[in-house]
Amino acid sequence: MSDAHISVRNLRASHGPKEVLHGLSLSIPRGGIYGIIGPAGSAKTTFLTCLNRTLQLVPRASSVGEVSLNGIPVSNFEINDLRRRVAMVLPLPVGLPMSIYDNVAFAPRMVGMHNKGELDALVERCLTQAALWDEVKDRLDQLGTKLSGGQQQRLTLARALSTEPEVLCLDEFSIAIDPVTTMRIESVLVELKSEMTIVLVTNLLAQARRIADRTAFFLNGNLVEEGPTEELFVAPTDPRTHDYIHGKFG
Ligand SMILES: Nc1ncnc2c1ncn2[C@@H]1O[C@H](COP(=O)(O)OP(=O)(O)O)[C@@H](O)[C@H]1O
Ligand SMILES: [Mg+2]
Repeated sequence: MSDAHISVRNLRASHGPKEVLHGLSLSIPRGGIYGIIGPAGSAKTTFLTCLNRTLQLVPRASSVGEVSLNGIPVSNFEINDLRRRVAMVLPLPVGLPMSIYDNVAFAPRMVGMHNKGELDALVERCLTQAALWDEVKDRLDQLGTKLSGGQQQRLTLARALSTEPEVLCLDEFSIAIDPVTTMRIESVLVELKSEMTIVLVTNLLAQARRIADRTAFFLNGNLVEEGPTEELFVAPTDPRTHDYIHGKFG
């Protein structure tokens, strides 16, 4: 068995009658940060949503092809189990209208964790991993939606970590937050990558270059090329990659 954590073969996805992902294949290795770059509309988000089958929640969307986690087709997983294993952080923080504590404890409670000591420890661990603990530890009962945008994005990350995912997907997480918070989350991701596989869709080329171990370039629903990040940026094999990373389009 190869050490691919996620393997994708001939994945096609459509929104209504329009195919937007055209038979894409790639392997995401276990551990490390796998960056995905490409202009708006290149199907990066659609691709991510195929990994944990959240595409099914999008009206009129469909997909065919093979997506496997640890060699097992994702269609074989019970859906909630799959989404605990493959967690998603969206571009805009989606705080649940409840306390900071309950935001993080929500998913663990859903699967039956009710012991206060265990929940307390889990909430502290996830908020610490998300670099938010020090700022909120004295007001855990405050509404999560009252936090600043950057804090809410870290709360969203803490919630994603609460199910102990093996794959953490982030979709343009820094689009609505300040550069300082962005850098803090980047250093959190670099710490987390030894414990899980991180799939990082980013609109910031410099972000992929700073922290992704490998990077894939998507264009119009196709994979143009992928490889070790430094190679892709310094010596891309495809002229379209060269033009994109040098700002000629997108
Ligand atoms: N819910 C939707 N309904 C219809 N078309 C969609 C929907 N979501 C995405 N698309 C279309 O699919 C294509 C890929 O979109 P998306 O995956 O969001 O790309 P990216 O994340 O790279 O910007 C685009 O042409 C977009 O307009
Ligand atoms: Mg997107």
